[in-house]
Amino acid sequence: MSGESGRLREGMRFRRHLLLLSLFVLLLVGVVVVVDRFDGDEEARTSALIDATARVDAGIAREMMVQLFSGVRDEAALRRRVRRLRAMVARLERGLREDLEEASEGIFADEEIASAIRRSLAGLDTALAGQERRVRRFLAIPLEEEKRARAVVIEEAADDRIPAALSRLRRAYERHYADEARVHEISKRVLIAMVVALLIYLVVLLVAAARRNRFLQGVLDERSALQEGKRLLLAAMGSAPDGILVCDRDGRVRYANDALAAMHGVADPEELVGRSAAELRGGTPGDPLYREMRATVAQGREWQGDYRLVSADGEERVIARTMSCVSLDGHDYLVGIDRDVTEERARAERLAATQRLESLGVLAGGIAHDFNNILAAIQGNLALALRHADEDGAGYIRRAVQGAERAADLCRQMLAYAGKGRFVVEPVDLSALVGGLSELLAVSIDKRIDFVQSLADDLPAIEGDRAQLQQVVLNLITNASEAITGGAQPREEGRITIATRVEEVDAERLSQAVTGSDLPPGRYVVLEVADNGCGMDEETRKRIFEPFFTTKFTGRGLGMSAIRGIVQGHHGALLLESAPGEGSTFTILFPPSEREAVPEEPVGDEVQPEEAAGGTVLIIDDEEVVREVAAELLGECGITTICAADGVEGVASFRAHGDRIDAVLLDMTMPNMDGSECFRQLRAIRDDVPVVVTSGYSEEEVLRSFEEGALADFVHKPFDPERLQQVMRRVAAARRRVGEG
Ligand SMILES: Nc1ncnc2c1ncn2[C@@H]1O[C@H](COP(=O)(O)OP(=O)(O)OP(=O)(O)O)[C@@H](O)[C@H]1O
Ligand SMILES: [Mg+2]
Repeated sequence: MSGESGRLREGMRFRRHLLLLSLFVLLLVGVVVVVDRFDGDEEARTSALIDATARVDAGIAREMMVQLFSGVRDEAALRRRVRRLRAMVARLERGLREDLEEASEGIFADEEIASAIRRSLAGLDTALAGQERRVRRFLAIPLEEEKRARAVVIEEAADDRIPAALSRLRRAYERHYADEARVHEISKRVLIAMVVALLIYLVVLLVAAARRNRFLQGVLDERSALQEGKRLLLAAMGSAPDGILVCDRDGRVRYANDALAAMHGVADPEELVGRSAAELRGGTPGDPLYREMRATVAQGREWQGDYRLVSADGEERVIARTMSCVSLDGHDYLVGIDRDVTEERARAERLAATQRLESLGVLAGGIAHDFNNILAAIQGNLALALRHADEDGAGYIRRAVQGAERAADLCRQMLAYAGKGRFVVEPVDLSALVGGLSELLAVSIDKRIDFVQSLADDLPAIEGDRAQLQQVVLNLITNASEAITGGAQPREEGRITIATRVEEVDAERLSQAVTGSDLPPGRYVVLEVADNGCGMDEETRKRIFEPFFTTKFTGRGLGMSAIRGIVQGHHGALLLESAPGEGSTFTILFPPSEREAVPEEPVGDEVQPEEAAGGTVLIIDDEEVVREVAAELLGECGITTICAADGVEGVASFRAHGDRIDAVLLDMTMPNMDGSECFRQLRAIRDDVPVVVTSGYSEEEVLRSFEEGALADFVHKPFDPERLQQVMRRVAAARRRVGEG
């Protein structure tokens, strides 16, 4: 990185500055030492020496001698004087020796001075001895001659070698001093120059240091910003709900976040680092999935797909992975984002299955509806034929009637599956309803099977259609019986249990429901049918609600589909537990009703007291056969009929025949003008005309299109001839009675 190398360069430059500065300071110290040596002391000492020599020189020696030896009269005085002289010479000698020492060692050693000093030293003793000698000589001289003689001696002494040596020394000193003074002067200038240079250098260095500090601060800021960014990124990646992994080109995990660790059932993401990503997902480097991912990202594209993962806790999960390639500093890395989609995929599968079933339901409902119309014609005509047939013919017709009834039952199952078969909704007591079916159930169940009923007393009512609920119970019981007797190995001790109860159901249990899993948790009325029959494997369990799915030779595969439609229509839920060889338990949950249950009573014959026959009925139906059968059936009771093929024609006929019409039999689904619009128009013409609606769909659904009490009655298609005759006779007679009265 350029920041890094810039930092290195800057660091080196700074060290160079420091080195230079230290060298400079060393040099400066040297110069200061040199200057200092000649400064002050050295200079003063040199000039003192020169002064001393100057004093010794020229006359001083003589004076000295005069002073020393004048008045010396005896030996004792002479000795005293000589001691003083020696002390003086000794002082002089000490001084000279010190000078000699300095002049012969150290940086400024000067051999010339040294030898001059040495010579002076050598001469001192001799000179002293000479003086002594002379003074002794002088002592021997008589007093008269003394003055002259003294002068001679003193003259001699003055010419002696001390002053000569000292004056040479002085000259040498003077020369030397002149040289050194020059050196000193130069050194002083150098020193000043160096001090100025050092100051400049220090300023430069300070500026450089400030710049360097600014630069370093920048680098530090940049680094801490980078580190903060990195930490933030790691924290964000670490807390991401999706698993994130980064692999090197060999497919080894370099980074994994917490979510990924959780997916693999390990506590610490570090445990995944260094492992092979392919092996982590349960594959191998080089397996087809690995090659596919590699090939895709190698083309610079993103790889997306699902894989199955068996995590450390042994659970199988579906993971959706997005993999792409990221290049950094010339290295390629693979970045994968894993999402646990187990639930999502399962939900999508369930939704797809539900949608498939629903579209099949629409189809089945449509077919059933059309079939009902056809069956209405067949059953109506068969009923008519039966009345006119002789004994032989009646047998055939009855069989045909049975066939038609089975077909009608099939239609009923299909309509129930399509959710279109809910006819009369009322509060029903499930226990009572099952109890009432006992006889019918006993016939439907194989004799060898133990049938146990466990029905709760005072069960809350549920809002339901009795016929449909009976259909559910019957279908479940039939299936249970068939599972016991019909399997590959029929069970010896078969048992079927039917139970009703109230249960508090929680969300978790509801979530396992095959249908109605979205119901709120709470109190439900439960209908449970359990058997110890052959049970179902996973594959069968998944498909039992598909219409026409059956594993039985004679089965139609509509029973469970109808149950599903009915349970949905009743806003209930269905739970299923089953395993091969271990029987099955179907549990249906119904929301309890607020209302009291209507007591269970045997469906009474709707036979009315004989109504006087007669009257005129307008039949409006788009199916010609239905019109014909209805007309024929009503004709049998002495009712005159007028037929119309659709709503428009019906309204026209009604307008034309006006008062003559006592009642109208009106179909719901018709082209041009449907039943409800036709009803509105008929009532607009005459508001008291009784209208009986007929439809293959549920009464509840039909009634929703009308105001309460607007219809005289409802006859379900395919119609039971007896019921149609009864209803129409009653309605037409009532109108006539009103008319007569
Ligand atoms: N209690 C059960 N035990 C085992 N398998 C069952 C049970 N109930 C249903 N099944 C399975 O579900 C399939 C579908 O059942 P469904 O009632 O819809 O059709 P069917 O019984 O085959 O024919 P039908 O329309 O005559 O009832 C059955 O064929 C059977 O494989
Ligand atoms: Mg069945």
